[in-house]
Amino acid sequence: MKALVLGAAGLLGSELVKLLPDAVALTREQVPVTDLAALNGALPHYEANVVFNCAAYNAVDAAEGQQEAAYQVNAQGAFNVALACAEHNARLIHFSTNFVFSGAQEGAYVEKDEVGPLGVYGKSKLEGEKLVAMVAPRALIIRTAALFGGSAGRTRPSFPERILERAAAGERLRVVSDQTVNPTYAADLARAAIALASSDLDGVVHVVGGGCSAWDELARVTLAAFGVTAAIEPVPTSELAAPAPRPRNGCLASTRTQLLRPWPEALREWALTRGQSGTKKP
Ligand SMILES: NC(=O)c1ccc[n+]([C@@H]2O[C@H](COP(=O)([O-])OP(=O)(O)OC[C@H]3O[C@@H](n4cnc5c(N)ncnc54)[C@H](OP(=O)(O)O)[C@@H]3O)[C@@H](O)[C@H]2O)c1
Repeated sequence: MKALVLGAAGLLGSELVKLLPDAVALTREQVPVTDLAALNGALPHYEANVVFNCAAYNAVDAAEGQQEAAYQVNAQGAFNVALACAEHNARLIHFSTNFVFSGAQEGAYVEKDEVGPLGVYGKSKLEGEKLVAMVAPRALIIRTAALFGGSAGRTRPSFPERILERAAAGERLRVVSDQTVNPTYAADLARAAIALASSDLDGVVHVVGGGCSAWDELARVTLAAFGVTAAIEPVPTSELAAPAPRPRNGCLASTRTQLLRPWPEALREWALTRGQSGTKKP
């Protein structure tokens, strides 16, 4: 596999790069997905036959006021990457989100369930999915959820990292208890995405951690895994008044592939890895 990773400095991108030492890792500064000419130059230059598109505008709340910026990356950017992959005959592995669903359904969403995003982020990602499928029908679109992992000091910490930081700062930890997701270890997702890249699977597939959890439960398991004692106060969504609407039920399942290992097991492994890499426990 001659792989190219776009959005390589992000959480998932950096896990893919760790697992694919021969891959070409391109950050936003090197090749922005908004620049079709740059993509059309990079693919043949690096002779890539697989492209992992990890580039995304992921700021769910900020997207409500920055619709154009979100669509530029999540829709137009995805379209550009798909165009370049089609032009240069590369397999595209694109990533999307559980936020393409409304969350009104009872039970986890599978691939064929009806989409209905609530906010700008989910709508822009869904538009990206549609454009990718239109231009590159053999592309694989991996929907995932609630990523965690990576090493310390990233500029955009994931939810468990924010909980740890806030606990260390002695802040009150009021966490939403009426929205559910599949917490997903980025390293596990990266491994699965690499395996799927070599398979015949195309279209949409759900790849998430095994098990569904409310955010307050994820916060509690995180603190326990890192040996931190702090109280988590469960609160309803209505009390936190976040700018973006989010699915109440954000849980995914799959009829097309296996879910990853149970998320608490993956989270404990991540905590151990962080401990071993010299990260100070808060
Ligand atoms: N994180 C989650 O909980 C989650 C949940 C569901 C789905 N997903 C999806 O999973 C994928 C990977 O997410 P992630 O958590 O790894 O995201 P991330 O850590 O925010 O990384 C995204 C990367 O994309 C880069 N980027 C932004 N605009 C770009 C552009 N125009 N051109 C090229 N690169 C650009 C960012 O660079 P800068 O840092 O310079 O902005 C960043 O390095 C995304 O498709 C995301 O929508 C994530």
